[in-house]
Amino acid sequence: MGINIRGRSFLTLLDFTPAEINYMLDLSAEFKRMKNNGVEHKWLTGKQVVLLFEKTSTRTRCAFEVGARDLGMGVTFLDPGSSQMGKKESLADTAKVLGRMYDGIEYRGFKQSVVEDLARYSGVPVWNGLTDAFHPTQMLADILTVKEEFGDVRGRKLTFFGDARNNVANSLMVVCAKLGMHFCACGPKELMPAADLVEKCKAVAAETGATIELTDDVKQGAKDCDVLYTDIWVSMGEPDEIWAERIKLLKPYQVNKEVMAMAKPTAIFLHCLPSFHDRDTTIGEDIYQKFDLPAMEVTDDVFLGKQARQFDEAENRMHTIKAVMYATLK
Ligand code: CP
Ligand code: NVA
Repeated sequence: MGINIRGRSFLTLLDFTPAEINYMLDLSAEFKRMKNNGVEHKWLTGKQVVLLFEKTSTRTRCAFEVGARDLGMGVTFLDPGSSQMGKKESLADTAKVLGRMYDGIEYRGFKQSVVEDLARYSGVPVWNGLTDAFHPTQMLADILTVKEEFGDVRGRKLTFFGDARNNVANSLMVVCAKLGMHFCACGPKELMPAADLVEKCKAVAAETGATIELTDDVKQGAKDCDVLYTDIWVSMGEPDEIWAERIKLLKPYQVNKEVMAMAKPTAIFLHCLPSFHDRDTTIGEDIYQKFDLPAMEVTDDVFLGKQARQFDEAENRMHTIKAVMYATLK
């Protein structure tokens, strides 16, 4: 039976079967081939999408904008500073208005319940461009990158080092469970994923042959690892005052060349980006001045090294987001 997710919202990968996820990944690879070969694919000409961003973005916004235009669609970008959203108009009212004008809505913001409400009230497909809980479009790009490296992803071990209860780590645990991979969360006990999400993922894993492991031991996390993944130590929306505590908790989980050497020699490094791997950002320099730390979650040598694939991963955001829009709007 063919897979069809037309009309569905894309809020968390918990809502999708392994076959549906693989369908979106195959479609992404097809869009990538077409783009690289200059084959036009304006398959959604005449449709309109709107992008709502309550947090900042480079990759996600650009991926949605370029993806939508490649598909022939019109795009509107809205942030709180240039719309009534939130301050003068509730999300429910905003959703009802946007659903009358647009075929699909992307939302990046805070609570997962907001993206769920947008889907409930707008009546059109809504795509989660990152909430505090999940970052599902990132996952398709990550897994496409892993597939490009290793082919079949089943049985591969992916370890997330760092703040293992953030949106990216949560979503990695979900996608690995769905696709029969070995997921390892490697970080301090204080920053482990919530027990109810771990239980949900373990139940999925029992069906797919995946495993879920939580450890505070870096050697254990890196052992037999195929994909070493990390993310910034303080996520958007968290207060600046938390840096000192996070640095103390997460410094032992920095991905550096010693950690890379503990993994399989064929292992790759991934990062959703943006990354604090040097002092070339205002925050990076500020942290260096205050804490004498020239890099945070990953060192520059790993970030610029032969095993790093984060820029392929960033490019894949566009191909995968295009696939999500096409599959849900076609
Ligand atoms: N990875 C990611 O979501 O990047 P942006 O914050 O730049 O969109
Ligand atoms: N965990 C990060 C991901 C950024 C893409 C954040 O939420 O800021």
